Amino acid sequence: MLDHNTIEIIKSTVPVLEKHGETITTRFYQLMFGNHPELLNIFNHANQKQGKQQKALAGTVYAAAQYIDNLEAILPVVNQIAHKHRSLGIKAEHYPIVGKHLLLAIKDVLGEAATDEIIDAWGKAYGVIADVFISVEAEMYEEASTQQGGWDDFRSFIVDRKVKESDVITSFYLKPADNKEIAHFLPGQYISIKLEIEGQEYTHIRQYSLSDAPGKDYYRISVKREAGPVNPDGMVSNYLHDTVTEGEVLQVSAPAGDFVLDTKKNTPVVLLSGGVGLTPMLSMLKTVVEVQPQRNVTFIHAAANGNVHALREEVESLTSVENVNSYFFYDSPTEEDRRNNNFDVEGYVTQDWLVKNIPTIEADFYFCGPVPFMKSINSSLKNLGVVEERIHFEFFGPKGSLEES
Ligand code: HEM
Repeated sequence: MLDHNTIEIIKSTVPVLEKHGETITTRFYQLMFGNHPELLNIFNHANQKQGKQQKALAGTVYAAAQYIDNLEAILPVVNQIAHKHRSLGIKAEHYPIVGKHLLLAIKDVLGEAATDEIIDAWGKAYGVIADVFISVEAEMYEEASTQQGGWDDFRSFIVDRKVKESDVITSFYLKPADNKEIAHFLPGQYISIKLEIEGQEYTHIRQYSLSDAPGKDYYRISVKREAGPVNPDGMVSNYLHDTVTEGEVLQVSAPAGDFVLDTKKNTPVVLLSGGVGLTPMLSMLKTVVEVQPQRNVTFIHAAANGNVHALREEVESLTSVENVNSYFFYDSPTEEDRRNNNFDVEGYVTQDWLVKNIPTIEADFYFCGPVPFMKSINSSLKNLGVVEERIHFEFFGPKGSLEES
């Protein structure tokens, strides 16, 4: 427990952090990667280049500082980050490295304003925050390795099948190289894939949602080809699409993530996705049809047009039952889409449309997709009076805010 004086110092420095937070974390990464280049094997270089990770870390540091005397309040956030950390293989021994460089960066950026007292207080506070993460993550490692078919760290999986699902999305069916059991997962969870790309100095790790229902002898991911192989964002997905072939071995970490469908509830469920955000939603749809066949489900998917609309037949084969309704939205349908009646609605998913078509605002809403799509769905649901506890969403990439700025 921190003493009163330390807590006061931490709280009074929050405005300073808010002002310099991003500069501090940017400097922190420069210093840390300078001294520990091996950590570049774990961090996502694309997120680094776009400054996304800087923002995510800065945000969490403010939150922690604000709640330093009541860290319980940020446990849900810790839990979600800890899932990501566990999936990446972050260990307790990494925390002092981060702590040391964070303090060095604070000193560097704030100069004389960072008195010994302030640095000492932040050192203590970081220790307390890090302990919370370390203990939550230790439990997650324990669970991942002791559950049936489970493991910690990375395990070799063979690409059993590679299936093209649309012009931009390809599925990979992954089976364990040791032919043994694989861990169960909850619909909505993801795995991390660690890749060594020829000519690249460091390994690359990326998370992909599992797109099939649990209970199979494989994991399936459905990967969107991101723009251009030279774009850091697209390097891994292009490599998977172009270079990884059936029979190849990939390193995979055990399923993780707290964006999961609650199958203990019986409320109507509305699953909304845009583009490749379809993947966790499809896993949820398949699961609910399998294990809760009576549950009312509305499945809404938005794509540009039929060329980029993946896994349509799979969704259609599940929505022939009475209590499952599906709607496909295309914002730029092709002539062929029109001829074949490939879509239900032309345009975007609007509040007006939702109010007429969702079963009730007492449903549970799950959504995933590009940020503008998610912002629009989030504000529509709030305007319609859906309470926060019924709104569940997942960002691909570092978490951001859905509130309109
Ligand atoms: C991701 C915070 C410690 C490595 C994240 C995210 C946050 C965060 C907010 C984004 C989560 C998401 O998008 O879902 C923190 C805090 C820490 C801490 C507050 C200390 C108390 C560490 C340590 C390491 C680490 C010790 C390893 C050296 C990573 C990596 C990611 C990540 C590799 C994924 C981001 C990417 O690849 O771009 N962390 N973290 N973190 N963290 Fe941490």
